[in-house]
Amino acid sequence: MDLERVNQIATKAAYNGAEILRTYFGNISEVNKKGAIDLVTEADIKSEKEIVATIQTAFPDHSILAEESGLNLGDTKYKWLIDPLDGTTNFAHQVPIFCISIAFAIAGEICTGIVLDPVNAELFSATREKGALRNGKPINVSSTSIVSESLLVTGFPYNLREIFDPIIHRYARCLRAAQGIRRLGSAALDLCYVACGRFDGFWEQNLKPWDTAAGSIIASEAGANVTDFSNRPFNVDAKEILATNGCIHEEMLNLLRLKENE
Ligand code: IPD
Ligand code: CA
Ligand code: CA
Repeated sequence: MDLERVNQIATKAAYNGAEILRTYFGNISEVNKKGAIDLVTEADIKSEKEIVATIQTAFPDHSILAEESGLNLGDTKYKWLIDPLDGTTNFAHQVPIFCISIAFAIAGEICTGIVLDPVNAELFSATREKGALRNGKPINVSSTSIVSESLLVTGFPYNLREIFDPIIHRYARCLRAAQGIRRLGSAALDLCYVACGRFDGFWEQNLKPWDTAAGSIIASEAGANVTDFSNRPFNVDAKEILATNGCIHEEMLNLLRLKENE
């Protein structure tokens, strides 16, 4: 498979989706609910249609897993993972923090990731073993060596009410230990910000494959350590993600380890 072509098509698809998001930002007429706090707008759906159409024109046989339309089964060896709008809650409230996330996997291994932030004109990309880029220039994780000097980021899944206690215990511990914690509202951007050293670490529970597929390869190609909370290598079906600059990974694993009554 020509990964350079894959990268070009993914980038084209992301820019096509971004055009739609730009049109709808601030002009949403209807917000629907997929769950109590899980929103979907016409921007999510139209952006996804445009992205999927761009990919299918170039690679008609490939499988596509996209957040709003689910799995479109083709050749199972080649699979695209698409979040047409990561940061929907921000978008619906006119907060300009959101992106498009597109990844490509061969036989289950993520090989390419593209995250496009149309507001800040930042295109993050990575190809396996070729490093990570921001607007074409190589990026690297930070070198902060301790959590007390780290700026961390986290997110809260839509089923947080069902797993409230562990989320709050972990958050409280990290909040006490870190220099600061942010909550951007876009897991894909959280991972890219770890990749380029703005954040030293990111953790979240219960994300979906389309949230993490592109961001996790961008982070790991930039030098991040990406695992679950038990230090097992991350895969997109995992229930937990911890991505750090590597230096603070062990300290973060200890902070995220729950005690028996938590
Ligand atoms: C959400 C964002 C958010 C994270 C949620 C995700 P969506 O994705 O990435 O930061 O905390 O868990 O579901 O719904 O905006 O595509
Ligand atoms: Ca998402
Ligand atoms: Ca989404």
